[in-house]
Amino acid sequence: MSIDLTALFSKTARAVRPSAIREMAKHAAEPGAISFARGDPAPEIFPVEEFYEGTKVLLERGREILQYGNTAGYAPLADFLCGWLTPRMGRTITREQLLITSGSGQVCDLLVRATVDRGDFVIVEEPTFLGNTNSMRVAGANFITAPVDEQGMVLDGLPEKIEAVQRAGGKISFIYTIPTFHNPAGVTMSLERRRQLVAIAQKYGILIMEDDPYRFVRFEGDDLPSLYELDGGSGVISAGSFSKILAPGTRVGWCVGPEAIVRIMTTLKQSVDSSASVVSQALVAEYCRSGRLDAFLPKIVANYRRKRDLMEAALRRYLPADEAQWTCPSGGFFIWITTPRIKTDDLIKKCLERKVVFVPGEPFYPNGGGEHSFRLCFTFATPDQLDAGIRVIGEAIRELTPVTAQA
Ligand SMILES: Cc1ncc(COP(=O)(O)O)c(C=O)c1O
Repeated sequence: MSIDLTALFSKTARAVRPSAIREMAKHAAEPGAISFARGDPAPEIFPVEEFYEGTKVLLERGREILQYGNTAGYAPLADFLCGWLTPRMGRTITREQLLITSGSGQVCDLLVRATVDRGDFVIVEEPTFLGNTNSMRVAGANFITAPVDEQGMVLDGLPEKIEAVQRAGGKISFIYTIPTFHNPAGVTMSLERRRQLVAIAQKYGILIMEDDPYRFVRFEGDDLPSLYELDGGSGVISAGSFSKILAPGTRVGWCVGPEAIVRIMTTLKQSVDSSASVVSQALVAEYCRSGRLDAFLPKIVANYRRKRDLMEAALRRYLPADEAQWTCPSGGFFIWITTPRIKTDDLIKKCLERKVVFVPGEPFYPNGGGEHSFRLCFTFATPDQLDAGIRVIGEAIRELTPVTAQA
């Protein structure tokens, strides 16, 4: 008798959805495709040779590096991060406040494991990064959503929503926000909003998860203090990653936060993967400790600023201004486009026929919505592709524009 394998699936497995980003990325792999889909860095600037030089650490410390590692992180990388983050987070970061993870996506997964029981609530922006709402969903979280505007998360009405949940005896596990160069919306939370959000969280006793992997990819304007800094570090867990500032193949991320949360997340991580890959952490540590990370950041910024400019120029050139609005990010990877009278599904079909790939807005709305929006990543495509791909999107929008509007 054969086993009905799908009948074995847990509720968690049934709740999980394939990532829309990865689904679209399949089309991006087709020959001749132009991809604005996945948030991939530009492969042409990966510091391959410099990274390779760090492999000598295997000869120097191989017996330690090839062994199981500390769950909290490989010591030389943890020391580097404590030193590197201290001025950037506005307070001394100790090893007890740091956890090195297998990508920063794991920070959210561990925080969910640490704080979410089925039926609990998480406050998220709308739209928000779908990779992380997926881990909240499979844990059975309910979503309280707050819209996003040019200043980041809109806080009007949030206290009332919190009070309603708390009055009914519900638990709000945390507020999840991407304050800087938002994925997918491209906007950055203003200093005033940051202060207000921290004040709201403190007033109602709610933890904040600040997901900040794009903070150091800033094209213009001044760096803003993290929520972690504004709060004083007791009610915010702040996640960072080497994915967007070095290479995502390293799968090394981190978080800093209150010791009690970091400790429980570390304990939970023991049964997830024991530790982030020690080999990978060691290579990242070698690269960073030689001062190369700080030298590499301006190269990333220059490359992506140019690509952002090229994509924006192409959007202005090819998209009918009255049919499409878009955000102008001062950093990060993404531009968010809204086409109020055109359904993104129709647009995607037309663009896929012409091998131009991007991610629809809907999966970024955990409670539904976003049918007239989509996300474009500008970092991965070549300059020629940026122009050619946006031209295709512009043509498709014109073809789909209702005839009455064209008259
Ligand atoms: C907002 C946000 N958080 C987390 C991640 C996951 O990054 P990592 O590669 O560090 O797991 C991404 C990746 O695109 C992201 O955009």
